[in-house]
Amino acid sequence: MADTQRLDKILSNSGFGTRKEIKQMVRVGQVTVDGRVVKDSSMHVNPYQNEVMVNGQKVEYREFVYLMMNKPAGVVSATWDNKFKTVVDLVPEAYRHFDVFPVGRLDRDTEGLLLLTNDGQLAHDLLSPKKHVPKTYYAKVDGKISQTDVEVFKKGVGLDDGYETLPAQLVILKSEEQSEIELTIVEGKFHQVKRMFEAVGKKVTYLQRITMGAVDLDRGLELGACRELTHRELDELKNIDNEL
Ligand code: URA
Repeated sequence: MADTQRLDKILSNSGFGTRKEIKQMVRVGQVTVDGRVVKDSSMHVNPYQNEVMVNGQKVEYREFVYLMMNKPAGVVSATWDNKFKTVVDLVPEAYRHFDVFPVGRLDRDTEGLLLLTNDGQLAHDLLSPKKHVPKTYYAKVDGKISQTDVEVFKKGVGLDDGYETLPAQLVILKSEEQSEIELTIVEGKFHQVKRMFEAVGKKVTYLQRITMGAVDLDRGLELGACRELTHRELDELKNIDNEL
């Protein structure tokens, strides 16, 4: 990262308005750098070292933000869609200027843990097939789940397109006409959980992601709500190294 950046860029990235609006704020003397009123919004400052204030309020600069969302059903994991609401539409106003995007996808009808960030490097690392980041899902499945299914999943399942999944850990919570399970997979193929159950003749009727790496879905988050990751959660995600 460059040590210095244009003042208008820093302020717009911090949510103080468009570059044009910021130019005006600077012109009328609302912005100080290290205690001095500045008049040139294109000046370069170091946002971590110089103290920038707007109307006497200190600008706490940061480049990246990391959010955990409890994704509800009915919204798509994308930044834009011509038909459906997106997860980005649910991001609180205070985070909008960070231009976050979802880290990977959950199906429209899947609920649960979804990370959103503007840190492209972390997103890339978490989605890298080499990293084998474990993801655990809770599901309701039509039909009884047997120990045979557990063994089949442990070896890897052949999907409809011929792909053999990596070994997956299936835990049976309830085996009845409608069963409940937890499944941990270390890859993220299209509709993977649903297709793994289809491969053993069963249908997922409800799907929720509950963990990603060492990060658990915060059960205190209502559907559609988000919160920032804690330092600890972020460190854990940054340090995932599960190369097989
Ligand atoms: N597997 C699925 O089938 N759907 C998801 O949304 C996530 C994993």
